[in-house]
Amino acid sequence: MSELEARARAVLCDSYARLPVTLERGDGVWVFTDSGERLLDAVGGIAVNVLGHGNTRLVEAVAAQARAMIHASNLYYTRPQVELAERLVATAFPSRVFFSNSGAEANEAAIKIARKWGHLRKDGATEIVTLSGAFHGRTLGALAATGSARYSQFFQPLPGGFQQVPRGDLAALEAALGDTTAAVMLEPVQGESGVFALPLDHLRAIRDLCDRHHCLLVVDEIQSGMGRTGRMWAHQWAGVTPDIMTVAKGLAGGLPIGATLVGARADVLEPGDHGSTFGGNPLACAAGIAVLDTISEQNLVANAATVGDRLRAGIAALEDAGRPILEVRGLGLMLGVGLRRPIARAVATAALQGGLLLNPIGQRTLRLLPALTLGAAEADLVVERLDRALLAVAAR
Ligand SMILES: Cc1ncc(COP(=O)(O)O)c(C=O)c1O
Repeated sequence: MSELEARARAVLCDSYARLPVTLERGDGVWVFTDSGERLLDAVGGIAVNVLGHGNTRLVEAVAAQARAMIHASNLYYTRPQVELAERLVATAFPSRVFFSNSGAEANEAAIKIARKWGHLRKDGATEIVTLSGAFHGRTLGALAATGSARYSQFFQPLPGGFQQVPRGDLAALEAALGDTTAAVMLEPVQGESGVFALPLDHLRAIRDLCDRHHCLLVVDEIQSGMGRTGRMWAHQWAGVTPDIMTVAKGLAGGLPIGATLVGARADVLEPGDHGSTFGGNPLACAAGIAVLDTISEQNLVANAATVGDRLRAGIAALEDAGRPILEVRGLGLMLGVGLRRPIARAVATAALQGGLLLNPIGQRTLRLLPALTLGAAEADLVVERLDRALLAVAAR
């Protein structure tokens, strides 16, 4: 155990199963450990570092805003918050924005808005229907939406008013929708449960069901958004328009932020309904503006699609070469590698030793969420290092 790890164990709660490495700085898609080792980062801070590490424009935007004003509160207007909202809405659908500080908070806002909408527009309907395998965050409301005992078994009672149906079972979804349903909430590509994209025809069918049963469609794009799947928002692959969309993770390139976009039909918030001290503060919003402008000017959404295809093909070739890979799932640079054997943690540890950061989910999936700036040669190197890690574990 390193000296820092021992100190961490003394003062930090045991809420994370961390890998035994200390990261000190980053440069593009590379990170450096405290012993100077250079690692290729295919995790990207779990889909947060969309511009990679140390992006000059982002760093300068944050530094300039920090000099001007870090925080002001939502008692007043600040220019970065308005400008970020304008840019965000321009990438999505006609809507207005509530800013918060994290994904869970963005979803809490969505849940509150859906409930208020149900109270006002649907005779007090408050129920929210979610899909099995969902992950919507760890606050109590978001945990209730997540609906998995794995995350919530010791935290009962959770708020009521949530119902979950099997992902992929449209008949079960339709049967669950009724007079008490305020909204259906889903991730277009589920991330935490192992990277599962909803079929596009399902997404379209769910939009139709929401219309027919007079309820809102809330899409959680916290992990799948920001260009990662090869479209700015993953639901855009299906050509559907949600009523509410939640965003976080990569929006400010590493600064904490959450955003809930609310279409006109669902736009029911009034002063006093909801709030956040830090939500949409000038520092995070200045970072968000730099991120959105860079994504647009450098065509990073298209890059995520092409480099994502290359990465996927490279990993699929490892499968063909007999490595214990079952399938490669996901879209663009949001990839899950399903393994034939329960070796995900062992492979991630071997990859770390071989200079590659990968994220194991359970024991049968490796997740890759690299920066959208990943180049072709870097993608090939990810494949090469993944191959070495798979071979190292197979040889044991
Ligand atoms: C789809 C999705 N929703 C919500 C969250 C929660 O976000 P946060 O950890 O910022 O609260 C996550 C985090 O992984 C996520 O992937």
